[in-house]
Amino acid sequence: MQNRTDDARDVVVVTGAGGMGTAVARRLGSGRTLILADAFREPLDRAVEALRAEGYDARGVPTDVSDRASVEELARTAADAGRLTAVVHTAGVSAATASVRTILDVDLLGTVYVIEAFEKVAVRGTSLVCVASVAGHMARIGPEDEAAFASAPAEELLGLTAVAALGDDSIAAYMLAKRANLVRVQAAALAWNERGARVNSISPGVIATAMAKAEADGASGDHMLQMLDACGAERPGTPGEIADAAAFLTGPQAQYITGTDLLVDGGQAAWIRRHMRRG
Ligand SMILES: NC(=O)c1ccc[n+]([C@@H]2O[C@H](COP(=O)([O-])OP(=O)(O)OC[C@H]3O[C@@H](n4cnc5c(N)ncnc54)[C@H](O)[C@@H]3O)[C@@H](O)[C@H]2O)c1
Repeated sequence: MQNRTDDARDVVVVTGAGGMGTAVARRLGSGRTLILADAFREPLDRAVEALRAEGYDARGVPTDVSDRASVEELARTAADAGRLTAVVHTAGVSAATASVRTILDVDLLGTVYVIEAFEKVAVRGTSLVCVASVAGHMARIGPEDEAAFASAPAEELLGLTAVAALGDDSIAAYMLAKRANLVRVQAAALAWNERGARVNSISPGVIATAMAKAEADGASGDHMLQMLDACGAERPGTPGEIADAAAFLTGPQAQYITGTDLLVDGGQAAWIRRHMRRG
């Protein structure tokens, strides 16, 4: 039997204390040091308090993922807390409530900062999962911009042609940011391999969280709900189903899986591709 005092604690980091983040924290956090990060104090404190009451060893680290220094500080804090096992990046904003600039800062650049900051502290066995979106499977980007989203320095990304063409279309910005997440994750797998670590993404469809409720209440809400019926899913996904996907991708059965994306969308991408391609 191993001497427990000799073991470094396993550390799990979850960015975003919203619907998916708290479900992932519950699914992955048992018996581990759980670090929850969010830009907003109120949801962060509420989630940490609830998790602690349920017996989790949870702590909150206020973090703005659109600020590189803030993300690097989070990564250092996590590395200092023990053996970094899993990082699940769920912090994000949606097109229903955020401006183009905020979507680019949080969803696009924030994900780049998370990939880069945690790569520096990743150890053998660390697994990062970034939550992208089914929207990322619908965006069309030219090959040059796509290559730049995959590997150009973060400072260059907002100068790309595809970004300049967005105007004030926040839906297009969200699709572009999520597409950029997918290609960035795939490209990052090589650097993560050098550390014996893995990086993947999950592309959710409509998942019943506060974010999806805001979208359902917005201009395209009826259409979104009709699409769930039309594609045959007939319901939104649950945060627990995203947590299950994150558990698989960060777990021992996915040790040879890196640089890929897992669609968890009940068939929405298939339906959209057949019926209503945008752009
Ligand atoms: N819910 C859906 O239907 C759906 C579908 C596809 C993709 N997604 C993606 O899933 C992820 C999680 O979404 P959710 O449904 O849990 O949303 P949510 O709104 O419940 O949670 C998102 C959390 O991110 C936090 N956040 C926002 N900006 C931040 C920042 N700059 N730094 C740190 N934290 C910040 C918010 O405070 C919130 O707690 C997002 O990336 C979202 O784009 C959601």
